Formats: sequence, structure tokens, C-alpha cells
Amino acid sequence: MKENRRGKAEEYNCRVCGGALHEFIDFGRQPVSNAFMKPDSPTGEVFYRLAMGICGSCTMVQQLNEVPRGVMFHAGYPYRSSESQRIRDHFAQTADGFLRGRLAAVDEPFVVEIGCNDGGLLETVHAAGVRHLGIDPSAGAAEVARQRGVNVRVAFFDEESAASVRRTEGPADLIFSANTISHLAYFDSVLRGVEVLLARNGVFVFEDRYLGDIVEHTAFDQIYDEHYYLLTVASVRAAAARFGLELVDAVRLPVHGGSLRYTLARPGTHPTAGAVAELLAHEEGQGLADLATLRRFADDAERICGDLVELLRELRADGRRVVGYGATSKSATILNHCGIGTDLIPFICDSTPGKQHLVTPGARIPVRPPEDFTDPYPEYAVLFAWNHAEEIMAKEHRFAEQGGKWILYVPDVHIV
Ligand code: SAM
Ligand code: TMP
Ligand code: ZN
Repeated sequence: MKENRRGKAEEYNCRVCGGALHEFIDFGRQPVSNAFMKPDSPTGEVFYRLAMGICGSCTMVQQLNEVPRGVMFHAGYPYRSSESQRIRDHFAQTADGFLRGRLAAVDEPFVVEIGCNDGGLLETVHAAGVRHLGIDPSAGAAEVARQRGVNVRVAFFDEESAASVRRTEGPADLIFSANTISHLAYFDSVLRGVEVLLARNGVFVFEDRYLGDIVEHTAFDQIYDEHYYLLTVASVRAAAARFGLELVDAVRLPVHGGSLRYTLARPGTHPTAGAVAELLAHEEGQGLADLATLRRFADDAERICGDLVELLRELRADGRRVVGYGATSKSATILNHCGIGTDLIPFICDSTPGKQHLVTPGARIPVRPPEDFTDPYPEYAVLFAWNHAEEIMAKEHRFAEQGGKWILYVPDVHIV
């Protein structure tokens, strides 16, 4: 329990089941993680308290405070899935798997994607001539998807918009979503929408960062405004059951530092894969629903923050040239929580056009195109996009070849 400004104890309740939340981590005041600004823009940024708790009843790990959805996702939302070739490949393979697998057995299938962004997955579905609809409130990203031939409705998926799609397009045989469902605080409305839109034998498949991997690797920077929930097999299974759906499969994925692909269906329509029980047992062994495990994770996160700041200060004292790589949403948490500014990291390189020549939220570190990384190379680079380490290190191989060192902080601070 927290004291609010009037000194009154504040209780937080689960957005899914109403149970009491037990707080385990607090990163303090944080900006909106994708609110990149012009360097000369006046302050007036939106800040909120970034803290997380676990529900004592259904085990759902979630934030205590909610940033309104329109503040995070709007026409200018800069994130583009296709900045990573590995993610593009992942989505092409995923779509291909659906087309050759469960969709091949359906007559004239209809596919809906929640949070299609720039169309990375649906472009393959479109190329196969399969009827589809992407739903995404970020008009800028949706426009890129449309240029790839993808049908998009600029809207927030929820109970209301799902009913509207059902009325105009009919039931969906596959509802897919990646890295979006955990962003939607109104999970109840989303699951009601899925229930309305899904065909009788349809499936709802979604991928998201997995709390099991986050805890195992102390990947605490996966906690930021957009990641409202940190999902597990146990919490998703409980939430699904509450809204008339059944978790029938769960598959671990290597993307984004460790994700999980959940498959939900109407009860009794699909057999449940053995992986569900296996992962539930694994989560039990890992203590993922225990407050003590999550508090240990929070202590480890604080230690890593301290180690990173100490290293950056030492390097500055030695006159070393250090820059950042990847102006990720994740980096907002670490930069702002650790108080890292341009004194320690003068700029961050990022390939996303919509982030370049702006400054990062809160910390106000300039974002520059990757070309500025090479001219001249720094001595050290903090890899904030550590989930794309292989791809970025391969692309920037000349940096290491001429003596440059990468600084990583997951699972602990180390130099490679
Ligand atoms: N699916 C892509 C991927 O995995 O790379 C994009 C993920 S991005 C982190 C989250 C996307 O969800 C954004 O494009 C955002 O605009 C979209 N989004 C946010 N709320 C949404 C909602 N209620 N319905 C549909 N899309 C939503
Ligand atoms: P993500 O961790 O949310 O996927 O964000 C990755 C960020 O890193 C995104 O802003 C794009 C950037 N990036 C590069 O600058 N170069 C690259 O090669 C890749 C893969 C990503
Ligand atoms: Zn709950």
C-alpha cells in the first residue's frame, strides 16, 4: 500500500479480476516512452509513476497507474516493426506458418491483426491473396502498411470496434497480435472483443514479452508505460477463462529477449497442447507468482542501475568517448530512473526516421542516424537495443574491429 498526497493509504486493484495488487517495483516519475521531442520544445511533458504489482488472486503482473491510450498511440507514434530485419523475417515466417497450417484448412479465411503497425506480418497475408484487416490507432504506421497493400482500420481494438468489424466483415478465423496485447490495460474489453469477433472454430494467437524471461535475465527495462502487463501462462489462462476463452497452446519464442506465443480458442473446440501444463509447472518452479521472487528481481534491477551509472562515470572521468545505440522505449526507463543525461551519453544512434533529430523523452538525449556512429567511432557504445544485439553487432562489425566496445546491462553490466 502507498500513501497518496493526502497521506491516505491507496489500494490498487487488478484490472482483470479486481483482486488486490501487491507492489514490487517502483521506477518513480517516468515520461511517455515514445514521446520523442524537438530539441527546442518547451517542457510540459507528461510524466506518471511507473510501478508494478502482482494480483493476489489471478497472479496478473500489471502497472499501478495507467497512461491514457491516446497519449501513447496516435498518428505520430514513431515505432516501426520493420526497422529490424530479424523481426521482418520472424513475421514472414509466422504468417507463412498460418497460411500453410490452420488457414489452409479454412474456406476463404479472414485474418485480423490487432496492432499491425507498418504491416510486417499482414504484407505476407496480403501477398497470398487472403482477406485480412489490420487494426491500429497509429495512423502514420498504418499509412506505411497501406503502401504495402495491407488493409488497415485506424482504430483501437476493443469490444466496440470488434463488434463493428464483425458487423461489416463477418467472423475472423484468425485474430493475431504481436507485442500489443500486453499494452492494453482494458484487457477485459479486448477479450470481450475477441469473443465477439472470433469464428466458432477460430483462434486468437498473440505474442508478447514473457515474464519468465524478464525475471530470469533481470530484463527490468522491459517495464515501461506501454508494457501495462507482464504476462505468464498462468495469468493468461486465468484471464481467458474469465472471458469465456481457453488457453490451448503456449510456445516460447526467442524474439525481443524472450517472448511467448499464446493460442486462445472457444472452450472445447481445440485440444490443449502439453506445453501449457509444462510451462505452468516451470512457472511454479521459478516462483513467478511469488512476491518474494519479484522483490528479488527489483533488488537486482537497482543493483544493475547502480553498476551502469558507476561504469559510465568512470569512463567519463577517464575521458572516454561513450554513445548510446538504439533509442528504444526500454531505454526511457533506465535513462530516467538512473538520471543518465547528455553528460554521460551525448547522443544515441537509431535507424528509425521518426526518432532521428529529436531528443529522448525525459532525459532529452539527442537521437542521431546510425551514420553518425561511424564518424568517428566512439570508444564505447551502450546497446539499449540489446534484444537486437546479434543484428546490430553484425551491421556495425567495423566498430568492434577497430577496437570499439559494446556495453550491455542485461543480465548484468558487462563489456564485450
Ligand atoms: N505488432 C507490431 C510488432 O510486433 O512489431 C507492433 C508492436 S507496437 C509495440 C504496438 C502497436 O499496437 C502500435 O502500432 C500501436 O499503435 C498499436 N496499438 C495500441 N493500442 C492498440 C489497440 N487498442 N488496438 C490495436 N492496436 C493498438
Ligand atoms: P525495440 O527494442 O522496441 O524493437 O526497438 C529497437 C530500436 O532500435 C528501434 O528504435 C530501432 C532501433 N534499431 C536500430 O537503430 N538499428 C537496428 O539495426 C535495429 C534492429 C534496431
Ligand atoms: Zn487479478
